[in-house]
Amino acid sequence: MGYIKSAALDETGFVVLDSYNEPVDPKEWLDIEYVDWKSSGDTRFAPLASAKGEIECNGFWNHQPPRTDKDGVWIDSQTELAPTLTARAKEPGANVGRCRIIELQPNSYADCLYNLHQDDNNRLNPDGTGWVVRGFFNLTDDKDSYFVLRENRTDPSIEYRIALPAGAQLIVDTQRLWHAVHHQGDKPRYCLITSWTSGPELDAYIEKYHGKPTTDYYPVSEEIREAGQAEQARRDAARAAYYAAKGQKEKLAMSEA
Ligand SMILES: [Fe+2]
Repeated sequence: MGYIKSAALDETGFVVLDSYNEPVDPKEWLDIEYVDWKSSGDTRFAPLASAKGEIECNGFWNHQPPRTDKDGVWIDSQTELAPTLTARAKEPGANVGRCRIIELQPNSYADCLYNLHQDDNNRLNPDGTGWVVRGFFNLTDDKDSYFVLRENRTDPSIEYRIALPAGAQLIVDTQRLWHAVHHQGDKPRYCLITSWTSGPELDAYIEKYHGKPTTDYYPVSEEIREAGQAEQARRDAARAAYYAAKGQKEKLAMSEA
């Protein structure tokens, strides 16, 4: 039967929406409660919606009964402090699974390549229903930071680099594309991440905000790209050797985020 997917994401696996130009009080992401949750770098997360409405970030499939990344339960103590962000996550009217703010510390391009991972949003998702994709709303003004999206983790031939100034809005099929962020700066980056179920509501939202793949890629020199690629390979090999020495099956490169 297959899943219901957005045609807008067919070509590249992502779309960039019109940027969000309304001011948002930074208290909405600074005053809410964070939990340590390591994913793709030095991170913490503040959930707005979770499996059972508690302040935790575990995949819904790790709860009882296990379920896919849909029907997230809003956390009143968090959403009360972040009303604008909550409204933005609800705006499409699509089903929301996990919804949380990520805090990411500065890193390097090589870190980012090593951190590239695919999400697991569609684990336990029933065939014939909507495919879960993710919205990313950048909150801080990180003009020199960018998403790296690849079709293949170790193949640089298809790499999209999307700049992340305040208000940047993307929707990404994060189970298809390998993804991570190179965050340059001296302060953490904050971004709202929402799991949405594909369907007519999300399609209408993408159309309303002119979602389309972009070819406006953040520039990175060939030298940095080659050095980053070599460092990714070096760390991958070191990790493989570590697990081989322990006689253990190598763990997945990255945890789901
Ligand atoms: Fe992720």
